[in-house]
Amino acid sequence: MDILRLEAVTKRFGGIVACKDISFGIPEGRIMGLIGPNGAGKTTIFNLITGVYSLTAGRIYFRGADITRLRPDELVALGIARTFQNIRLFRNLTVLDNVRIAVDRNLPYSFGAALARLPSVLSKERAVYRQATEYLAALGLSGRAGDRADSLPYGLQRKLEIARALALKPKLLLLDEPAAGMNPEESAELARLIRRIHGEFGLTTLLIEHHMDVVMELCEQIYVLNFGVKLAEGDAETVQGNPDVLRAYLGEGYKRAGN
Ligand SMILES: Nc1ncnc2c1ncn2[C@@H]1O[C@H](COP(=O)(O)OP(=O)(O)OP(=O)(O)O)[C@@H](O)[C@H]1O
Ligand SMILES: [Mg+2]
Repeated sequence: MDILRLEAVTKRFGGIVACKDISFGIPEGRIMGLIGPNGAGKTTIFNLITGVYSLTAGRIYFRGADITRLRPDELVALGIARTFQNIRLFRNLTVLDNVRIAVDRNLPYSFGAALARLPSVLSKERAVYRQATEYLAALGLSGRAGDRADSLPYGLQRKLEIARALALKPKLLLLDEPAAGMNPEESAELARLIRRIHGEFGLTTLLIEHHMDVVMELCEQIYVLNFGVKLAEGDAETVQGNPDVLRAYLGEGYKRAGN
């Protein structure tokens, strides 16, 4: 069954149609790719799924329930988390605290108990610390826990964003260009890491990426956007061989991954 379904989703900004009549579903447990040229509407789709923007038309379903009009915090509570193309960390907090804040959202305690420093609060603080360090370890960031977030190179900041998204305990993880700015070795390493956490945390993953090696390595199913409309859809083989996709995005000289 599809964990997420978009039905005829359209978003207009004034005269600009950022995406038009987009329909697709992601079966639970899959890694799906969302690709296309700059300005194709990929990030807009993430902003619609996560409630950052409201839809102009269409519907979005999560596990069969209509989530079209839900707020971002309600969507997080349902199990949808994301990373941002433009990294959004608490820059002047430590790496650990960036994750700790996200873990904290999931372990409620009362404000009164916090003021009284009841034992339940102290044990909660320990649990938050323990969980946050586990997410950092999963992303290979343990050694940087005490560093300021903005002291990390961009590649590690993107991993920290993933750690923070995982701390929200999502079922559906949306990654917006996690390999941006990485060289081929770094992006290959990131692809392995995404596959590992996808399995380890029982996720369904929707991935926006311009690094085709990463997309072709990870995605069983790919949806191609161009100027806000669907250009093609299918498995990696089908999409890489599609003449429209080669012309509009991959380039006529594109060589298939693995060839
Ligand atoms: N808040 C906004 N207001 C006005 N126009 C917007 C807004 N957000 C996106 N757009 C427009 O919608 C179109 C799609 O943008 P979007 O950011 O979704 O593209 P993208 O596929 O993510 O591109 P890229 O690969 O460069 O990140 C663009 O023309 C963009 O200028
Ligand atoms: Mg984008």
